[in-house]
Amino acid sequence: MSSPFEPVVPSGAMRIVNIVGARPNFVKIAPLVRAMKRRPEFAPTLIHTGQHYDQAMSQQFFQDLEISPPDFNLQVGSGSHALQTAQVMQRLDPILDAVRPDMVLVVGDVNSTMAAAITAVKRGIAVAHVEAGLRSFDRSMPEEINRIVTDAVADLLFVTEESGRANLMREGVDPARIHFVGNVMIDALEGSRRHWEKSLIFKKLGVEPGTAYAVLTLHRPSNVDDPGVLASFCEAFDTLAHHIPIVFPVHPRVRERLTSQRCGPTTEPQDRLQSKGIAYVDPLGYLDFVALVSRASLVLTDSGGIQEEATMLGVPCLTLRETTERPVTVSHGTNRIIGGDPARILEEALHTLAHPPGHTGPPPLWDGHAAERIVAVLEAHGRAKHPPRRPD
Ligand code: UD1
Repeated sequence: MSSPFEPVVPSGAMRIVNIVGARPNFVKIAPLVRAMKRRPEFAPTLIHTGQHYDQAMSQQFFQDLEISPPDFNLQVGSGSHALQTAQVMQRLDPILDAVRPDMVLVVGDVNSTMAAAITAVKRGIAVAHVEAGLRSFDRSMPEEINRIVTDAVADLLFVTEESGRANLMREGVDPARIHFVGNVMIDALEGSRRHWEKSLIFKKLGVEPGTAYAVLTLHRPSNVDDPGVLASFCEAFDTLAHHIPIVFPVHPRVRERLTSQRCGPTTEPQDRLQSKGIAYVDPLGYLDFVALVSRASLVLTDSGGIQEEATMLGVPCLTLRETTERPVTVSHGTNRIIGGDPARILEEALHTLAHPPGHTGPPPLWDGHAAERIVAVLEAHGRAKHPPRRPD
């Protein structure tokens, strides 16, 4: 009897289960699933773990990036890292058993990425990791552990920058498994340009054309979980806002913390940009966020992907961390790693506004065609494992 999970797959098509869980995953998977759907050789399935579940954190991204609804949603929701990881594994396992994919493809470095990779490899299913090899060398970052574990079990490792290849080689990975293909986040950025260029976010926020403003994001546990650390960031942002207005789309976990410690807004939070001050706004969708960054004078962030988007858009970026796993954004881009000291944040921000860095052009292979390269490798891999039968 066939299982209710079992998809109808054209005979000979390569069954790929694609996993997404959190915001940055949605951006990365969009061009990949699109590229797979263009080729009859692939039968892609999309599984959402449900790690991110709010309209603003999940469905809005599916709409903005024109991703079809997932075939399965594991609805794991929030929880400790152990719980989230365990629930993804527990709920994904029977689906993999029923679908029997040729490969599981995971992207990025969130808990869902690592959990799905382990589940697949334990079932003897090949794993492809897109955005492999990035290392911050800071093991206190949950994402660093997720990267190391995922790369250790993956069969195919797709890297976005040379550092990724170098890190994997140093860790003893067979070079034949490493493919330098470029960056699918940039495919998404370029592929949706015509949409985000029409975003109405400027009108919504009351940003007049030509107004200088900065965009701020902050959500890393190391930056927001300790009240003292968060208060010191808020002090820096409040001072900087006397020089340039700041738009701060606030991640749900950070809003809670800002509210509970009455940090940041000295008056009621503004959801429109004022000439001096911080506009604390709800998390933005992909198109509105990219549009906002594209015309900003400065980005301040602790995100990984935003360092890459700012680099591609030629917008100066100051990263509020001690390390980056994306060094190409510093060597070839507009990014500087400045840590969390309030005096340094102010000094670097004012310096950058007065002397914006030159734009060196995109890093190698960030050309909007990474997904095509990846599906070509997947196809070759599938052919090598199951060569087409010769006619008798
Ligand atoms: C996760 C990723 C991080 C990524 C970020 C992008 C891990 C370890 N972290 O961090 O690498 O940069 O996503 O946004 O996988 N919450 C909601 N609604 C949601 C989702 C989350 O309110 O839709 C709140 C909950 O209070 C939850 C908290 O945010 O406990 C944290 O969510 P979680 O998925 O655990 O981690 P992020 O901080 O979002």
